[in-house]
Amino acid sequence: MTLPDYLRVLRDRWLVVLALVVVGGLAAGASWHLRPPEYTATVTMYVSAQTTDTASAAYQGAQLSEQRVTSYIEVINSDLLREDVVRALRSDDLGRISAESAPDSVLIRVSVTHPSPERAAAVANAVGTVVPRLVDDLERPASTDAIAPVSVRTVKPAAVPVAPSSIGLPVTLAVGLLGGLALGIGAALARNALDRSVTDLDQLRLLTGAPNLGTIAYDGGVPKRPLTVHEDEQSPRREAFRTLRTNLRFVDVDNPRSVIVVTSAVAGEGKTTTTANLGIALASAGHRVVLVEADLRRPKLSETLGLDNAVGVTSVLSGDLRVDQVIQHGPGGIHLLSSGPLPPNPSEILASQQMAALIAELRERYDTVLIDTPPVLPVTDAAAVASATDGAILVCRHRSTTSDQVTSARAALRSASAALLGTVFTMAPRSGPLAYQQYRGYARTDQERAAASARRPAPGGVPRVSLPVPAAALDDEQVGGSRNNGAPWPQPTPRPR
Ligand SMILES: Nc1ncnc2c1ncn2[C@@H]1O[C@H](COP(=O)(O)OP(=O)(O)OP(=O)(O)O)[C@@H](O)[C@H]1O
Ligand SMILES: [Mg+2]
Repeated sequence: MTLPDYLRVLRDRWLVVLALVVVGGLAAGASWHLRPPEYTATVTMYVSAQTTDTASAAYQGAQLSEQRVTSYIEVINSDLLREDVVRALRSDDLGRISAESAPDSVLIRVSVTHPSPERAAAVANAVGTVVPRLVDDLERPASTDAIAPVSVRTVKPAAVPVAPSSIGLPVTLAVGLLGGLALGIGAALARNALDRSVTDLDQLRLLTGAPNLGTIAYDGGVPKRPLTVHEDEQSPRREAFRTLRTNLRFVDVDNPRSVIVVTSAVAGEGKTTTTANLGIALASAGHRVVLVEADLRRPKLSETLGLDNAVGVTSVLSGDLRVDQVIQHGPGGIHLLSSGPLPPNPSEILASQQMAALIAELRERYDTVLIDTPPVLPVTDAAAVASATDGAILVCRHRSTTSDQVTSARAALRSASAALLGTVFTMAPRSGPLAYQQYRGYARTDQERAAASARRPAPGGVPRVSLPVPAAALDDEQVGGSRNNGAPWPQPTPRPR
């Protein structure tokens, strides 16, 4: 991975990083709050030899003193000293005692760390009193009147410390935040390494062998307002669906595809929202468009369009109603053939000859037929319908659909002899390489369009008129007039393969 790849991973997973930075900061703050500040008092002692009569004796004595320093430090750090200090102070609340000395030095610095500054100074001074006695006891030869060759003196007693020696809140917080940042970066990279979801267009192209026809950004307002008809003409979402419409036209210019299945590998990837808005984008360009709600398990298209699904596909297939009796007019000039009553055997219904005949009839009546289906991996419905159409669009949800799911969906469509026209990447991030933000402000305003249209003479000198929305070939009154009220389902005739 190169540096830009690392940066991309961190940008994509900034939430994990931020969460761990916050956790690190909070943990540091809490630990600082729970641990009282500590004070350190220091006493300095000097080690010297007792025999300094001649120059050589003084030299040997100095060497002896330096050699002894290391041993005295060990004694000071041992329980031996603690016991003597406890006895001297009549308290075992000593805090932490540690001794150190610079190399080749005969000075020993003993530090005592304690939550109370007074106590720290008292213990340090007690150490300063106890250590010379202890050394004297240890060094004194067996005969009682002999003097010890080396002695220790306190040269600088401990003063009561004024400022705490433990690290302050700013440093503690900085350590916590940096620790959290390091953990966050590690977690983000680890998650990225384990992540099998599809995150970029090249990956999607490689997995499907089909072009990407469009990328639709994530928009938190979509669940409440799924249709682009409610948005500005130049809104990024409308522009994204216009791009999808344009790209669809160029999939195979020699063989224009007019009956298209919209499916995905698994549930909730944005099929229905894509079908509805692609239909609206096509209708706004003057196409006669019908949307077919062929999800006979969890139909959502009619609800998304604000229409009824009491009668529709199954009403026609059961022979109760004709197509023109169940077609509804939807927003943006689209027509809808809703699901109708849900059958117990959706796969068989959708694979039937009657369904193929219905699709053929719609093909005759409309420029484009968009069929919204269930996901292709859990059920065979989409593959069954797709084989009677001009091809399928595979909707993939950014950072959700896994590469294995895409590959399996591709295989399922292929085994049903359905052509894969291309993919649509949904719920992609608003910024970054996948963003469609480059279109923001790119579309012309309505006024600009009108002005441009007025300036340009129409071919043959005929005055320009706006394209009519497809004629309403069907009678609204008839919609919903007849229902299949629990009538037994006719046995569908399987389509010859
Ligand atoms: N671009 C988007 N940004 C944010 N949310 C979206 C977007 N597109 C779709 N959604 C939301 O994602 C959810 C699933 O969308 P949709 O119903 O279109 O998916 P689906 O593939 O048809 O699902 P199902 O498999 O259940 O039929 C819905 O709540 C929808 O509002
Ligand atoms: Mg759906």
